[in-house]
Amino acid sequence: MYPGYFISFEGIDGAGKSTHIDAFRHLMQKRFPQKDIVMTREPGGTPLGEQLRKLLLDAPMNLETEALLMFAARREHIAQVLEPALAAGKMVISDRFTDASFAYQGGGRGLSLSKLNTLETWVQGRPDGSLLQPNLTILFDLPGEVAEARRSKVRAPDKFEKMNLDFFEKVRQEYLRRAQENRKRFHIVDATQTPEAIWNDLESLEIIL
Ligand code: TYD
Repeated sequence: MYPGYFISFEGIDGAGKSTHIDAFRHLMQKRFPQKDIVMTREPGGTPLGEQLRKLLLDAPMNLETEALLMFAARREHIAQVLEPALAAGKMVISDRFTDASFAYQGGGRGLSLSKLNTLETWVQGRPDGSLLQPNLTILFDLPGEVAEARRSKVRAPDKFEKMNLDFFEKVRQEYLRRAQENRKRFHIVDATQTPEAIWNDLESLEIIL
């Protein structure tokens, strides 16, 4: 599809993906010294996207507004960052992508799958009818209560991090459903393990560009 390679990191808040994403970038750079690697995130990744991120993480809003803004930020991210980088043969590592919208706005907040599918097709659709998707999605999976205990030890929570356990369990289940549907794309990491064991898991991932 593109000469580049697209990796997304996903998981419920507190699963530990942020702990590993920078080290993973270094691992990739060591393994593929010739490859340019672009680090990015969602919501965000562009000046407009970062402004939308502030609104999305702080301001209470209608569920559909929230989903539309997430996908508006994503459209800009795809046009300005992802497609140009992938077309130029770069590796892109994104802290979250569309699976997060299915998990949070769909699973967590209850937006219908058909609306999410419509937005996904619209925003990620390509002229040949295919959808832009990550080549690999690394999902940090763990029970909501373990994540909650971890979250309470760190900085002040944003709007999503303030949600209750039931919300995060639903977010988790939707991530797992997406993973079941796209087995080839997903690598699930058991995030209840120690950081060392998680790192071993990431290091042994086979990636063929
Ligand atoms: P996160 O990626 O966890 O960043 P940080 O580590 O700085 O908190 O925060 C992004 C939040 O946005 C997270 O709670 C999930 C949420 N989110 C959605 O609800 N839908 C989406 O489509 C995306 C990309 C993120």
